[in-house]
Amino acid sequence: MNQQHPMDEPVALATTTREPTDWWRDAVIYQVYPRSFADSDGDGTGDLEGIRRRLPYLKGLGVDAVWLSPFYASPQADGGYDVADYRAVDPMYGTLLDADALITDAHALGLRIIVDLVPNHSSDQHEWFRRAVEEGPGSPLRDRYHFRPGKGVDGELPPNDWESVFGGPAWTRAADGAWFLHLFAPEQPDFNWEHPAVADEFRSILRFWLDMGVDGFRIDVAHGLVKAEGLPDLGGHDQLKLLGNDVTPFFDQDGVHEIYRTWRRILDEYDGERIFVAEAWTPTVERTANYVRPDELHQAFNFQYLSTPWDAAALRRIVDASLDAMRPVGAPATWVLSNHDVTRHATRFANPPGGTQIRTPGDRELGLRRARAATLLMLALPGSAYVYQGEELGLPDVTDLPDEARQDPSFFRAEGQDGFRDGCRVPIPWTRTGSSYGFGDGGSWLPQPDGWGELSVEAQTGVPGSTLELYRSALALRRAQPGLGAGGDPVWWDDVSEGVLAFERPGFACTVNVTGAPVRIPAPGTVLLASSPVEATDGEIELPGDTTVWWATA
Ligand code: NOJ
Repeated sequence: MNQQHPMDEPVALATTTREPTDWWRDAVIYQVYPRSFADSDGDGTGDLEGIRRRLPYLKGLGVDAVWLSPFYASPQADGGYDVADYRAVDPMYGTLLDADALITDAHALGLRIIVDLVPNHSSDQHEWFRRAVEEGPGSPLRDRYHFRPGKGVDGELPPNDWESVFGGPAWTRAADGAWFLHLFAPEQPDFNWEHPAVADEFRSILRFWLDMGVDGFRIDVAHGLVKAEGLPDLGGHDQLKLLGNDVTPFFDQDGVHEIYRTWRRILDEYDGERIFVAEAWTPTVERTANYVRPDELHQAFNFQYLSTPWDAAALRRIVDASLDAMRPVGAPATWVLSNHDVTRHATRFANPPGGTQIRTPGDRELGLRRARAATLLMLALPGSAYVYQGEELGLPDVTDLPDEARQDPSFFRAEGQDGFRDGCRVPIPWTRTGSSYGFGDGGSWLPQPDGWGELSVEAQTGVPGSTLELYRSALALRRAQPGLGAGGDPVWWDDVSEGVLAFERPGFACTVNVTGAPVRIPAPGTVLLASSPVEATDGEIELPGDTTVWWATA
């Protein structure tokens, strides 16, 4: 029998009702970067009303929840991760009424809303910090941040040797001579979490948004809140990388866990299974697991997975290590390939392995082919998966933005040698044509490249083989077959050729050819979906290079 299969036409599976509980254990959560998603008022910047109008698109895509990067009042020194008022919507994004309408409409469609919480630092325009600076030494508000005298004869040297994640010293000197700590930009002073007012304030902020009806929080820099006693020098320790990946006096200190236990108790007072997800860059998946112990947070991003190159052995190792690390704490593994801080995976995989900040377009066709295969692998793994806006269109990073258009603070602090995060934040294309390809009616805050419209939702909808239709089919299958997201660990086949990953889960198998050359393998069942066209003949299949195939097994 010849079994021809167009790559993205799902085979019908028996639909099973999903358990209403524990929705987050296998949820697919879509990240919206509000500034770049949809602009309803034509000012060139995305907004909450734009997101609200596109909720039916997200519902149709088949995701379970939407995580919104910050939309709070902010001077935008770091794309809104510098919050001036945690209970207000920035006018560029709308109003609290718009947030309310967005939450209400999402719920009516059966979508959950997760908002970003930024507790490590505020904006320097936050009232506490402004007053702490204005009132000068002796202001009690200074204790809510880390103000310290400098070293050297006249205090002209920073209090310790810490460097900012965005480059340069982690300390800036106020006009009166005192230094304040900022692990990120100088406009993002770090809170002092030893101060009870800080802890009280964040408990209140949590309640504010929980009362508004949000379904959860993504916690920014969850590993950074507590600093080691006395703020000791790093000394010989390696300075941190982009977002820090080591246990240091400022990251992954054990004290953070007590904060999350308190927060969990608050969350559990509310109905409706709301969740926390940690942005915690830790050195190992085992340390990440500490954040998702039963009385702490629900999920943590799996950045080790995101950082894994397109290599079969490395992928298998990280999948197993992630599942092994989560098992003792009973938390689901999570999987993520792209977000607003890293080069999109279609561009990472188009280049030789080289970290998460890539400046060159590489081989775009190869990158997209691998990205599609990587996505089907990710969506076949047990646990929860994160999808970043535009990856369902196969968008590449925009690697040639002019320097004068860039906004990433790390680009400027590193003198243009680092911080290429604007490339994944370019407003996404909805239509083939139009001044900003349907993003809005009035241009776009970052320039969109030529040809962007050909990657638009309009251009890909209904087109067999398009990346958008591949995502739609994959998510529909995942929803229809509970064993796909939830359910047991993968059982690997060991007798496959080098460079091939193959595993089974109940009623389902996934085969991934991570090499560039075709490989013949025994067909484990009926093809459900494939990331590039495949043809199965009598019990065998030629698996093309850089391709993933999903199978229904008996
Ligand atoms: C992580 C966020 O994802 C990133 O965009 C931001 O720059 C830093 N945290 C600082 O808030």
